[in-house]
Amino acid sequence: MNVLIIGGGGREHALAWKIRQSSKCEKIVMAPGNAGTASIAKNVSLDPTDFEAIGQLVLQEHIDLVVVGPEAPLVEGIRDYFQGMEHLKHVLMIGPDKKGARLEGSKDFSKSFMRKYGIPTARARTFTSKDIDEALNYIDTCEEPLVIKADGLAAGKGVVICSKREEAQKAAQNMLLEKQFGEAGSKILVEQYLEGIELSVFVLSDGKNFVMLPEAKDYKRIGEGDTGPNTGGMGAISPVNFADTQFMGRVKAEVVRPTIDGLISAGIDYRGFIFIGLMNVAGSPFVIEYNVRMGDPETQAVMPRLKSDLLVLLEDAAKGQLSSQKVEIADDYAATVVLASAGYPGAYEKGKKMRGLDEVDEALSFHAGTKWIDSEIVTAGGRVMAITGMDQTMDGAITKAYGGVKKVRWEGVNFRNDIGRDLQ
Ligand code: AMP
Ligand code: GLY
Repeated sequence: MNVLIIGGGGREHALAWKIRQSSKCEKIVMAPGNAGTASIAKNVSLDPTDFEAIGQLVLQEHIDLVVVGPEAPLVEGIRDYFQGMEHLKHVLMIGPDKKGARLEGSKDFSKSFMRKYGIPTARARTFTSKDIDEALNYIDTCEEPLVIKADGLAAGKGVVICSKREEAQKAAQNMLLEKQFGEAGSKILVEQYLEGIELSVFVLSDGKNFVMLPEAKDYKRIGEGDTGPNTGGMGAISPVNFADTQFMGRVKAEVVRPTIDGLISAGIDYRGFIFIGLMNVAGSPFVIEYNVRMGDPETQAVMPRLKSDLLVLLEDAAKGQLSSQKVEIADDYAATVVLASAGYPGAYEKGKKMRGLDEVDEALSFHAGTKWIDSEIVTAGGRVMAITGMDQTMDGAITKAYGGVKKVRWEGVNFRNDIGRDLQ
């Protein structure tokens, strides 16, 4: 099969690395890819939301399956575009249509969905700018802390955890009146704060049936000990010790099955990944959010643990034939550490020459913000790469990951030294 992977981050490199191992894989094209994917795929410099250009690429390269990495093309309707084109509608695709992508694209939609289908989640109310007074009054009645969320996509910044009601009122005003996040904040959710430990759960659906992929824990904050601003994710661990058989059994029965059944009832033929951000509140799962894609950097920890042929799973999911699939998962631990540019998640420098990439031998390297310039690999993004160590013990996996991390060098490289340490 010829596969096109849309995106150019560490998640997409990990997906390409795993798909490459399939005997069914003939060719991988990446749009746009990065310096790491260049060695296993053909990189084509394209904007992931330029559907016309992607459609042309699919025809030129005789692509059988498109795997959509990031959410933006899905929220903007890449599947709908393909299905509306006579010469593209036969192409298999991993990723939901515009309606399904609203699970991530609109927090109001996903909250209503969870309410309707009885999926456990935090209490919340939705407000628009015309009911600002009602929103402020409602916040006065809420318990502290509380959470204010912009309805739409806000580059991961649309969630404000407020320890005080006044802070929440300010956040609500900033979003609704000052348009801090533009249109994304023209609706907000005022949500109950959930106290617990977070977990990322990954599901692959074919529209009727599903398989569960390994779960992971993400480290979102830039600083050690979970301090400082939020990032896209600075590391990941899989498996997660508190996600034991009993807890995952509840997740499957109380969250995953009702989600798939809800999608069927809502008339959404969902063929793709569902990433469920969960809070474990005293042993009970509550959904914080849905994403309509895999996580980054969780994918870089999840893919190395998957023993099954990913391409077979993806093809079956895209065809609506996942029913008989059993997913084989390695017992090994995976620890992923993200290397970032100095300044990230704020303004950061690019174009730094990278050294030591070939010296990483006991761990896997997944590139993100990297590119080739004049026969050298240089940094080209905030999160630059992820190193994954694998071992029978979590300690061994962490040690191998950091062994690799130490070999990679560039001016200003930044990473957390404590990935996985809280789980030991
Ligand atoms: P989201 O953009 O929905 O992923 O939210 C970003 C982060 O905010 C989540 O990963 C959680 O750490 C936190 N968060 C969101 N909603 C809640 C909530 N209701 N209670 C506690 N933390 C939350
Ligand atoms: N690591 C969290 C995300 O991909 O959204």
